[in-house]
Amino acid sequence: MDRTHRQQQRRASGRIDQDIAEVLIDEDAIARRVQELADTIARDYAHDEGSRLVIVPVLTGAFMFLADIVRDLPHKIRIEVVTVSSYPGAATVSKGAALVGVLPKALEGRDVLILDDILDSGQTLGLLQDEIQNRRPRSVRTCVFLRKQCPRTREVTCDYVGFDIPDAFVVGYGLDFDGFYRNLPYVGVLRREGIAP
Ligand code: IMP
Ligand code: MG
Repeated sequence: MDRTHRQQQRRASGRIDQDIAEVLIDEDAIARRVQELADTIARDYAHDEGSRLVIVPVLTGAFMFLADIVRDLPHKIRIEVVTVSSYPGAATVSKGAALVGVLPKALEGRDVLILDDILDSGQTLGLLQDEIQNRRPRSVRTCVFLRKQCPRTREVTCDYVGFDIPDAFVVGYGLDFDGFYRNLPYVGVLRREGIAP
């Protein structure tokens, strides 16, 4: 069974899709944009002859974006994951960011590319950029799949942005609500009943 057919079947029986009020970015648009981003990144790091590029994805939200984008990169790269907690449980507003565990050690002298699912208040990426700079890398850049149009607690520069989206709470393609919906292959807005306690 091919992928499209399987997806149609999944939707028809879809327990997860019925919680979605609106599809904001569909799978084809995601695939096209991720490929464009990978092409741009590949060009920008074309000089990387010493295999210095380290991708630092922020778990858990970046896992799907990570898997798609690294498969389109031609470099010999390392992947060093970090975990940052910002939303305890079923909250939809950030309560500040905290690093969970320790940063990978081998960042000194490397070209670090931080990968996150979404830029919202800016606290997560701000914290990580500071912590990673302290490790004396050769360069630090940041790539986000989504950038929300909303006021930021902290202004953060992103070098690569997949999509700019309105100020709504979105799920899918790695993004969750209370741990659910990360496995949706598209980005959608939850029905209000899904968010309300
Ligand atoms: P920030 O620290 O407020 O920029 O938030 C970044 C983190 O909050 C992201 O890595 C996401 O895990 C989470 N987040 C922010 N907005 C959303 C959303 O709309 N849906 C799901 N998770 C989100
Ligand atoms: Mg996250």
